[in-house]
Amino acid sequence: MSDAAHAVHQVPSRLLDASKCPKPHIDSFETYKKLYEESIKDPQKFWGEKAKELLHWHKPFETVLYGGLEHGDVAWFREGELNASYNCVDRHAYVNPDKVAIIHEADEPGNSRSITYGELLHQVSRLANTLKSLGLKKGDTVAIYMPMVPEAAVAFLACARLGLIHSVVFAGFSSEALRSRIIDASSKLVITADEGRRGGKTIHTKKIVDVALEGCSTVEHVLVFRRTGSEVPFSAPRDLWWHEELEKHRPYCPPEIVNSEDPLFLLYTSGSTGKPKGVVHTTAGYLLGAAITFKYVFDYQENDIYGCMADIGWITGHTYIIYGPLLNGGTTVLFESTPVYPSPSRYWQVVAQHKITQLYTAPTAIRLLRRYGDDYVKGHDLSSLRVIGSVGEPINPEAWEWYYEVVGRKECSVVDTYWQTETGSIVLTPLPGATAMKPGSATFPFFGIETAVLDAESGKELEGNDVEGVLVIKKPWPSMARTVYANHHRYMDTYLNVYKGYYFTGDGVGRDHDGYYWIRGRVDDVIGVSGHRLSTAEIESALILHSSVAEAAVIGVHDDLTGQSVHAFCTLKPNQGETDVNELVLQVRKTIGSFAAPKKIYLVNDLPKTRSGKIMRRVLRKIVSGESDQLGDVSTLADPSIVPVLIDSVQKS
Ligand code: WT7
Repeated sequence: MSDAAHAVHQVPSRLLDASKCPKPHIDSFETYKKLYEESIKDPQKFWGEKAKELLHWHKPFETVLYGGLEHGDVAWFREGELNASYNCVDRHAYVNPDKVAIIHEADEPGNSRSITYGELLHQVSRLANTLKSLGLKKGDTVAIYMPMVPEAAVAFLACARLGLIHSVVFAGFSSEALRSRIIDASSKLVITADEGRRGGKTIHTKKIVDVALEGCSTVEHVLVFRRTGSEVPFSAPRDLWWHEELEKHRPYCPPEIVNSEDPLFLLYTSGSTGKPKGVVHTTAGYLLGAAITFKYVFDYQENDIYGCMADIGWITGHTYIIYGPLLNGGTTVLFESTPVYPSPSRYWQVVAQHKITQLYTAPTAIRLLRRYGDDYVKGHDLSSLRVIGSVGEPINPEAWEWYYEVVGRKECSVVDTYWQTETGSIVLTPLPGATAMKPGSATFPFFGIETAVLDAESGKELEGNDVEGVLVIKKPWPSMARTVYANHHRYMDTYLNVYKGYYFTGDGVGRDHDGYYWIRGRVDDVIGVSGHRLSTAEIESALILHSSVAEAAVIGVHDDLTGQSVHAFCTLKPNQGETDVNELVLQVRKTIGSFAAPKKIYLVNDLPKTRSGKIMRRVLRKIVSGESDQLGDVSTLADPSIVPVLIDSVQKS
């Protein structure tokens, strides 16, 4: 394995020096190993103890785990009752009302504001009382389509306070994508803002919501937070201003105590087929996963200032901007801008200004900033940092080394954290004070997560080291998704029926001679562009919505900056005349969102298909990546003569 050639970096000695850093929770690999083995030997004991230690229960649970992966009936802490917002806010507000919960770093530098736990409790309560007055009840779904403002966190927590299910839609999605998510979840309310700001640009959130709601009957009200104050369309009585409504309501709202297994939220994510899945997370298990991983993976300590640069519209934002940090009573930075606005020094200015101790970002941002050069990093005081994290896709060793040396000055642990929307919280990761790091490897499983490598064909477990296969998890863990909203079949078929008795991640993996895990990427038709998860089938469906497109085949192509980029092959209906590819790009922007737009579209006469009509994307991938001499067996193609024609059109474009 070529990976063996890569360097091993020991835990930086500074982290273990009590005169320089707080003592890490887990401060040696032996401690990690011992705790890990205990957690796997008796998971019920481990999770039961941690659930009592890390969460506040209004009614204690009796059964730690019920059900299993075989039948897809997993339930954790069954009889227990609790409230997520009480756990994130109230219990800290009582002890420490003046501690800062959220620091908002606004798009324009110099405009940051802080919210204490005491203030957060008031805001969350006022909004919860508002939602109650609008007639929303436990079990109802609320869509949140918000820019990166603290009020987005308030919206999450107010829903949780009443047992409402939040369904956050990333504010980069188009109105059509928003509409289909609102309809699928039968959301009754949309919480949004007049506009958003990002990188100096305006995002017209309210206008997008208005278009999404045309012909959408489930939504009764739209609650609009005023972010920019610009004039936006407003139609009473459907639309309500956040500031006007909240003022009418009391700053305390008793939490609705819910069952452990009541849903906390839905989050749509892309899979192998066209329609996005509403992944369902339940309350207690999800909260426990968020709380425990935040504590150990980022080695969270009492006075830390933690900053995750993701968007609240993705699972990373849910678990590691909001729930994880707040469950631990921490201070979390909510960053509205981009890594390069107004200059590629922005992250480092923010770290220095707020004295951030843990920074969590994505490989695509790291690669981008590395490309701008070290000068943008130098001159900023980054000495507050102890842990720097990466998430979303495999990080290439060059980018890892840059992050470690230039940003971390070899004095920080790099945590390459592997997980998914469906896992709820981190499953493979180094621990800052314990794990020797290998650049590009997410290293070892987190406590209580029993991973295995299966041979993809036979489904047999590959024991020992130096193996390659697909990554599965062998036992239920608390923060695993319980179902796909209104489609348990799809849940079973995607995750639990592929290899019976295992949770299937969809990722290829290697376990090297030292037992380190190396994620190789998806083995299904899911691709990753700048950390955004896209489905080739979903983009294909968008393309064929265009009146002149007959067929479309989408592939992910390696990209030095964004990980992968979207390339699309389209055939046109007969007698279309001239078709502008820009129109096709626009079609994808309109149907899904700009972030899914193809980088390249090839108009071709035919697509490579098997005799049964299945498109062979493998052939297209090879042609685009310049490996047309390694196409493999193309004799199964219905018409092998199209291959040279395709090669020609790719080379010409
Ligand atoms: C997919 C999940 C939950 C984090 C944000 C993405 C890929 C995620 C890593 C990593 C290699 C990674 C996998 C996974 N992925 N983290 N550290 N190393 N690959 O969540 O949108 O649900 O995507 O992202 O392919 O299956 P997501």
